[in-house]
Amino acid sequence: MTSGLQSILREPRYDLVKAPTPLQRLSGFERKLGRPGLYMKRDDLMEIGLGGNKLRSLEFWLGAALREHADIVLVAGGATSNLCRLTAAAASMAGLDCVIIHNAEDSPANRERSFLNRLFGAETRFIGPVGEEERAAAMKAAAAELMGQGRTPYIVGDAVLGALGYILAAFELHEQSQRESAPLRHVFLAGSMGPTEAGFIFGNAMLGHPFQVHLVSVEYGQAELEERIRRIYEGIGKRTGLAVGGLGEAPLHYHMAHLGGGWGVPTLESEAAIVAFARTEGILIEHVYTAKTCAGFLDLVANGTIPQGEPACIIHTGGTASLFSQREQFRTVS
Ligand SMILES: Cc1ncc(COP(=O)(O)O)c(C=O)c1O
Repeated sequence: MTSGLQSILREPRYDLVKAPTPLQRLSGFERKLGRPGLYMKRDDLMEIGLGGNKLRSLEFWLGAALREHADIVLVAGGATSNLCRLTAAAASMAGLDCVIIHNAEDSPANRERSFLNRLFGAETRFIGPVGEEERAAAMKAAAAELMGQGRTPYIVGDAVLGALGYILAAFELHEQSQRESAPLRHVFLAGSMGPTEAGFIFGNAMLGHPFQVHLVSVEYGQAELEERIRRIYEGIGKRTGLAVGGLGEAPLHYHMAHLGGGWGVPTLESEAAIVAFARTEGILIEHVYTAKTCAGFLDLVANGTIPQGEPACIIHTGGTASLFSQREQFRTVS
């Protein structure tokens, strides 16, 4: 099925990620937990906009935008959205203008949180704390307004297209894993809106399932997370024409124990994970996505659910920029 890669590589792509990102040994945790074979794939270490998973998706989104001769991209998210920050950064590189719709109050605190977006040259519009549907409608209205002015807008965010970036990431990690003395067996990812997860799971299926994939939910209950991933996974199958088997055949494990009060609400364990990664490895992770995922990883490794002798890797999906606006959420560090 690796020949199937051609159908993904045929999609237009704008080059943003110097691959491979580092596969780093977590030697501090290996010592602490008394077991070898703990790794982190550093998708936070990319050259643009402080890096992160969305850059892999943006390669495909900007590829599509340029193919459609767009001259401006539209994107929506909260004031600290990693997608918005990285879209602003990537658009400026590609010579495209960028409008960001923030579904957040127009307050001094939120303007400060979205400062980097304007630094990258994007226009930011605050439409108040509305839900996903209203935000999407606002984005469509903004696109229509721009077309009326003779512009050619492209709306960033097609989940299936964005997921293709993590099919490539699965191949990249597999190749890196093969070079280790013992190949990776378990891979951990944040469970959230789904494109990253669905793409990685699809890529893993194309490779013949070398990895057990663990999703630590940071946003939704299991039924909704599964449904989101299934929709995108099936969408990838349709778009690429690749038959890799259903999601039911995938070695997939959902972990709900770290969701706590939901998206963006820290737990004692997620804060402990931030502190532990900072003080054991010198690695920064943030509250919303990576802390809960790392908490799940440490938990399952320490309690033996991930057996000794089975190397495990967490994918650091970035988002580190938001750590600077999360200081007040810490309870144990002042
Ligand atoms: C840093 C970070 N990690 C993980 C995710 C989750 O990715 P996905 O939306 O593909 O589920 C996001 C989403 O914004 C993110 O910003």
